[in-house]
Amino acid sequence: MQKLSIITNRLIIRNLVITDLDNFHQYRSNPEVTKYQGFDVMTKEACADFINSQAEKQFGKPGQWIQYAIENKETNQLIGDCAVKLHQYDVRLAEIGMTISDLHQKKGYAKEALAGILDWLFETQNIHRITEIVDAENVASINLLKSLNFKQEGHFIENIFFKGKWGSEFQFAMLKREWKK
Ligand SMILES: CC(C)(COP(=O)(O)OP(=O)(O)OC[C@H]1O[C@@H](n2cnc3c(N)ncnc32)[C@H](O)[C@@H]1OP(=O)(O)O)[C@@H](O)C(=O)NCCC(=O)NCCS
Repeated sequence: MQKLSIITNRLIIRNLVITDLDNFHQYRSNPEVTKYQGFDVMTKEACADFINSQAEKQFGKPGQWIQYAIENKETNQLIGDCAVKLHQYDVRLAEIGMTISDLHQKKGYAKEALAGILDWLFETQNIHRITEIVDAENVASINLLKSLNFKQEGHFIENIFFKGKWGSEFQFAMLKREWKK
């Protein structure tokens, strides 16, 4: 299987491995971290199953989410993860998601990791357009996307029944030609 390795100033984005489990579980079990995510807090066992389920995944399969580790180069520890999905019918369209551990937020890591992922997808994977859907109350994610000049394209009003109530979402997007600028 071809392994991913995106290297930025402070980070390595790579495949998840089972030795990431303790760090992965630390933030995936925090309700503040999972508040706006499509999953709830996870047990250690569920985290281990999730990491193992990623092992055989290969980038490039239409319609499949694949989760990558974000490692701090200096400490060699997992500090977060990011997900990429290629569109089911056109693999030049990608969707992304990003999580940074509560222990490491607000240090510019998400922005640095996302910039590395955009370079990789646009420059080497022939991706034309990248989107992210975020909860309209998720200020951190919204600011992250705005900080990299993603365009807000959509505001869906109470389009999702989410964690016990109707939620609204924004869609953000970036085109390859916009990123090149
Ligand atoms: C969203 C998230 C990934 C941001 O990670 P981060 O490493 O703290 O973000 P960065 O430090 O790279 O900051 C990126 C930008 O967002 C802004 N930002 C980050 N957290 C913020 C917050 N809590 N409130 C307001 N702005 C925030 C930063 O100021 C920065 O903007 P700037 O470059 O214009 O100064 C992180 O908060 C997180 O993992 N949240 C929980 C998971 C989640 O909801 N993910 C989205 C669903 S896919």
